[in-house]
Amino acid sequence: MKRWRVGVLTASDKGARGEREDLSGEEIRSLIPRMDGEVVVSEMIADDWYTIRQRLITFADQIQVDLIVTTGGTGFAPRDVTPEATRSVIDKEAPGLAEAMRMASLKKTRYALLSRAVVGIRGKTLIINLPGSPKAVRECLEAIIDVLPHGLDVLT
Ligand code: MTE
Repeated sequence: MKRWRVGVLTASDKGARGEREDLSGEEIRSLIPRMDGEVVVSEMIADDWYTIRQRLITFADQIQVDLIVTTGGTGFAPRDVTPEATRSVIDKEAPGLAEAMRMASLKKTRYALLSRAVVGIRGKTLIINLPGSPKAVRECLEAIIDVLPHGLDVLT
């Protein structure tokens, strides 16, 4: 049996309208087994602060996942509000993980500096923001995935 219950949340206006496939969510789902995790819930929603906030709260408090991984909405566009929605629900930030993702990403692309991704803790749930592209998802998650089981161990 897999150890960690994981929720995947894709924030994408186009995806929510059915105009884009959830390739980034799929990328996350393919990587989660590496940390002995199982994706128990996965959704694609619009880039809307209130909707993102509500789904984060539901995943953490009702579905009680150990980890939520979001993708999308971390950049500078007016509709990019995933970090703000995340900040509104967390009790503590975990800046080390966000910094490690940005440092590793910087070796791949200078545009890594444009991600405002946040990592934080709500109760017993860790929430990780990733940028929106499948490539960024892989590069960011691979930079931190080895330490996640220990972090979650301490949380629970
Ligand atoms: N990080 C990695 N590892 N690889 C990438 O290709 N793309 C960047 C950045 N972080 C990228 C990355 C780009 S182009 C942007 S605009 C920001 O993430 C924000 O992306 P988002 O708005 O899709 O969340």
